[in-house]
Amino acid sequence: LDNGVGQTPAMGWNSWNRFRCDIHEKMIREVADAMVSSGLRDAGYKYVNIDDCWMHKRNSKGEIVPFVNKFPSGMKALGDYLHARGLKFGVYSDTGNTTCEGYPGSWGHEKQDALTYASWGVDYLKFDYCAMDRVRETPKTVYSRMRDALNATGRPILYSLCNWGTGQPHLWGAEVGNSWRTGRDVFASWERSDVKALHLPNFLQSVLEAVDVQESYHPYAQPGAFNDADMLVVGLEGMYPYGIVDACPEHVKGCRPGQYVTREAWGQVGGLTVTEQRAHFALWCMMANPLILGNDPRDMSKQTIQILLAKEIIAINQDPLGRQGHRVHVEPRHEGRVEIWRKPLAHGRFAIMVLNGAAQQVRIRVSWSRDIGEAAHVWNREAAAVEDPCQDKDKNCPSWAAGGECEKNAGFMMGACLKSCPNACDSPDD
Ligand code: GLA
Repeated sequence: LDNGVGQTPAMGWNSWNRFRCDIHEKMIREVADAMVSSGLRDAGYKYVNIDDCWMHKRNSKGEIVPFVNKFPSGMKALGDYLHARGLKFGVYSDTGNTTCEGYPGSWGHEKQDALTYASWGVDYLKFDYCAMDRVRETPKTVYSRMRDALNATGRPILYSLCNWGTGQPHLWGAEVGNSWRTGRDVFASWERSDVKALHLPNFLQSVLEAVDVQESYHPYAQPGAFNDADMLVVGLEGMYPYGIVDACPEHVKGCRPGQYVTREAWGQVGGLTVTEQRAHFALWCMMANPLILGNDPRDMSKQTIQILLAKEIIAINQDPLGRQGHRVHVEPRHEGRVEIWRKPLAHGRFAIMVLNGAAQQVRIRVSWSRDIGEAAHVWNREAAAVEDPCQDKDKNCPSWAAGGECEKNAGFMMGACLKSCPNACDSPDD
């Protein structure tokens, strides 16, 4: 969306994955302080987003009013607190009459709510899609209403659509929002079999399930408009599922298929290993996915900090070209996922990721012609319109080939750089 914000994927924190409805201003302020002291803010995580359950009711004028017990100082004061610390303020609402947790949604109040948010100093709106079963309009029409309402406030507000892939948002999302969800909520489990084993309700999916959907939409990402596979589940020891189950998890006493199981009854399950968390983060960066943390920044392990503050990996996510990486090769010989991913970066560069999802060490060859060169050729033709890869020689040539000549008219635009292979390899193909 051309609203001046979200040119690179949004970075910040959201209350939902870790805290669900258990939110209040003291905790949000502490989280904000922790984001500053831990270095998260300076690494780029600026948005502090309050998810569902902050809104209590509408007053006699129809204005949305937060829970006073959760936010005694009011939302404006909370926004001021965040802004004073160099952070940005995000809230959540819903297209329908109610949010997913049953609190008042924005249906019929879009303009009023947008003005209220602007008066609080809100910088980000996550707009969910619950309670929409009886609505006949397309998601595009519905979401466009709030886009126009936000636009009319004159305040730049990042607009994050949360309609879980409904209505193929990748096809129209760039006109309507800064990002759009491509699928269901990501749960802290690595693959589908884990989700099945836990008997999770079907609105939850594993990291790899989300990746597979999002990967196929890679051509639709661009500056100001990104596919969103959901928030990060790094740094969570597990999560509290809830909802109607088809089959009952053994440990939930009194559970019957077809019935709603509460978070409390379910308890904490799942959780990624540290290696899985690292891969999850790398995949989100390669996919130019918004990086919205779902953990508790007040309480982070050394490993969580290492993953979330990996500057080089964040730089790949935040690259100004704003292109989404995708899978260029699947190694057929292994069980589990062994894949090569490639993401075009500004100045004719690429990021390459080797994903080892096998249970053992594997040897994998990254081939210039198969994984990079051919694809680079295709990409460079499109990118020529975006920027001249030779405008800055040193930036254009990969650092290992620094000093290589860049010939714009070589047809294969990085060709000249490839000639100077570093000592570590014998041919550009190694
Ligand atoms: C939906 C969204 C989640 C979260 C909850 C809140 O499930 O996809 O990200 O916002 O609603 O109720």
